[in-house]
Amino acid sequence: MTVQIDHALEEIRRFRPSPEFAAQAIADERLYDAASADRLGFWADQARDLLTWQKPFTEVLDWSNPPFARWFADGELNVAVNCLDRHVEAGLGDRVAIYWEGEPGDSRAITYAELTEEVKRAANALTDLGIRTGDRVAIYLPMIPEAVVSMLAVARIGAIHSVVFGGFSADSLASRIDDAEASLVITADGGYRKGRVFPLKPVVDEALAKAEGGTVKNVLVVKRGENDIAWNEGRDLWWHDTVTTASPEHEAQAFDAENPLFILYTSGTTGKPKGILHTSGGYLTQVAFTHKNVFDLHPERDVYWCTADVGWITGHSYVVYGPLANGATQVLYEGTPDTPHPGRWWELVEKYGVTILYTAPTAIRSFMKLGRSVVHNFNLRSLRLLGSVGEPINPEAWIWYRHVIGGGSIPVVDTWWQTETGAIMISALPGITDLKPGSAQVPVPGISVDILADDGTPVEGEDGGLLVITEPWPSMLRGIWGDPERFRETYWEKFGDKYFAGDGARRDEDGDIWLLGRVDDVMNVSGHRLSTAEIESSLVAHEITAEAAVVGASDETTGQAVVAFVILKERHAHDLDPSDASEELRRHVAMQIGAIARPRQVFIVNELPKTRSGKIMRRLLRDLAEGRQVGDTTTLADTAIMDIISAQVR
Ligand code: WT7
Repeated sequence: MTVQIDHALEEIRRFRPSPEFAAQAIADERLYDAASADRLGFWADQARDLLTWQKPFTEVLDWSNPPFARWFADGELNVAVNCLDRHVEAGLGDRVAIYWEGEPGDSRAITYAELTEEVKRAANALTDLGIRTGDRVAIYLPMIPEAVVSMLAVARIGAIHSVVFGGFSADSLASRIDDAEASLVITADGGYRKGRVFPLKPVVDEALAKAEGGTVKNVLVVKRGENDIAWNEGRDLWWHDTVTTASPEHEAQAFDAENPLFILYTSGTTGKPKGILHTSGGYLTQVAFTHKNVFDLHPERDVYWCTADVGWITGHSYVVYGPLANGATQVLYEGTPDTPHPGRWWELVEKYGVTILYTAPTAIRSFMKLGRSVVHNFNLRSLRLLGSVGEPINPEAWIWYRHVIGGGSIPVVDTWWQTETGAIMISALPGITDLKPGSAQVPVPGISVDILADDGTPVEGEDGGLLVITEPWPSMLRGIWGDPERFRETYWEKFGDKYFAGDGARRDEDGDIWLLGRVDDVMNVSGHRLSTAEIESSLVAHEITAEAAVVGASDETTGQAVVAFVILKERHAHDLDPSDASEELRRHVAMQIGAIARPRQVFIVNELPKTRSGKIMRRLLRDLAEGRQVGDTTTLADTAIMDIISAQVR
C-alpha cells in the first residue's frame, strides 16, 4: 500500500475529456446540480426515469429507524420485468442481450426475447419446485448464460438468490447454504477453466453432506462440463429436463420495492463471512443510474463487457442488473484470460467489437507484465471507454490501460464501491470530469461522502482519514442476513449515523478522493476480499498448527497477497520438514476456503510478535513479508523476537 501512496503523491497528470467524447456523453453536469439542490428528489427522478413501476411510489426515503433504510417503500415493481420484458415490449426483443463465449470457443448470441423466454421457463420451474417469495436459492455456477437466467428467475418470483463463487470450497458453500437456509441449489456438472473441466456438482454433493441445516430439497443441474457426476435420485434434477420443458408463459407479479433481492457473502474482520442483504427498487435504481452514466452507455450501439464473475458483487450489479435494466448488449465469457492463449481477452474485444470494458487493476497489471505484444496482435479500436474496480489502480497501470488498451485518448474511470454499497459510489463521469490517474475522484451525483479522523472530526486537506458515507443511498445494504446487531456494530457504531466503509482515504487540493486501502483486517487479493481472521482460523484448524498469523503483503500483480506465519505444534515441529509443512498448509487453506485464499507464502516460525497483552502485531509481520526494515518494536513483550523471526523467514 505504501508504495502506491508514494506514487500517488507524485501523480499530477490530468486528462481533459476530448471534445468529441464530451459532445456525445450521456452524463450531464446538471446531474450534480440537481442532486445537490434536492438529493431525494433527484433519486426519485432517477427511479421513475430508469425503471418501470407497477405501482408508483409516493415516499422516497424512510430513515426513521436508522441504520435500516427503506427506499421507495410503497412502490411495487418486478426486477426481472425491468431487466427483460419491458425491453421486449418496447420492440427491442431482437437486440442481443448476451454474446456468450465459452472457454473452449463455443458461443451463443442470446436476444432479449430469448433471454426473457428462458427466464420465464425457469421461473415456472422454480415455482413447480415449491420455491416461493422470500425463499433462498443458492447458485453455484460457472459463467454460463444459465447463471444469469437463474438469478433473474429467482428475482422474478420474488425469492432471494445467494450466488456463491464457483471457486469456493465445499466448506464455504456449506456454511453459506446453512446461514441462508437455502432450499434449492442451482449448479452445473462442471465448467471450463484453464483448458480443463472443473467439477461443481461433486462440490455441491460434498457441501450438502456437510451442511447441518438439511434445508436443501433439490439440486438443479445444468449440463456443461459433461464430467461424470453422482446422482441423488429424488433430489437432483437436470436443467434440460426441468427448465427447458417448462412453460414459456409466465405472468410476473409486482413486489414491494423493499422485497429482498439477494444475499451475497463477503469477508469481514472476523472469521465468519457476512451475508450482505440487498433489496429491489433502490438497488436497481442506483445500479441502472451508475451503469448508464459512469459507462456512458448508448445501448443501441455499445457492446459492453464487464469481466467480473457473477459470484462477486461486480457481477451482480454490472453484469446482470445494471446492464440488463438498461437494455445493454454485453459479452459474457466463461473462462480465464490466458486460455488457450494469453491474448484471449483481446481476441474477444476484437471479435465482438467491445466498446466499453470494465475490469480490475490486477488483470491490467498481469497484462502489463506480459508486455504489449500480446495486445498488439488484435484490433482494439472499437474501445471507447475503460473502467477499473476492486482496488486502487496505480497511476502506471492507469496510464498503460489508457495507452496500450485504449489507444491513448479514451476515458478511464476508476470506480470505488463495495459489496455493501451495491453500486458505484465514487467515480469520474466520462465527458465531464478531468481524469486523474490513481484517484477514484468524486462521489457520483446523489452520494455524499466525507473523510473523518478516528474521533469523528472532518479531516481537511492532504491528511488521510477514514472514508464515511454521510447520507443513506438507494443501493445501500439493508443489513447482514440474520444478524442485525453485527450490521449495526460493523458499519454504524463508529460514527453514529454515518456509514463507516473500512477504507482509508484522502482528499487532494482539487477535492478528488484517493483511496488508501483497508484500515481493518480485510485483505484485497486480486480485487477480492479476504479476511485475515478467516484464513487464520483455517490454518489453526489443521492438526499440525499451534498458532497462526496472516497478513496482506503488497504484491506487484495481485495488489495484496496472503502471507502466513505459522507455529507448528511441538511434536510436528521436529518431525516435519518446514517446506513440506508450508506446502501442506497452503493446500489445506485452498481446500477449506477456496483457491483464491491460498497463501502466497507460509513461513514456519517459532514465535509470533505479541504485545504485552498478547495481541499479535501484524504490522511488524507485514514489514517482514514486504521485505522492509521492521518498524517500531518497543511495544512488544519481547523486543528480540523480531530478530529471531526475521532470521527464520530469510
Ligand atoms: C473493497 C470492497 C466493488 C466491487 C469489487 C470489490 C476496495 C474497490 C476500489 C477502487 C480503491 C477499491 C476497497 C473496498 N476497492 N474498488 N476503485 N479503489 N479501492 O468489492 O469485495 O466488497 O471490496 O474493495 O477497499 O472497501 P468488495
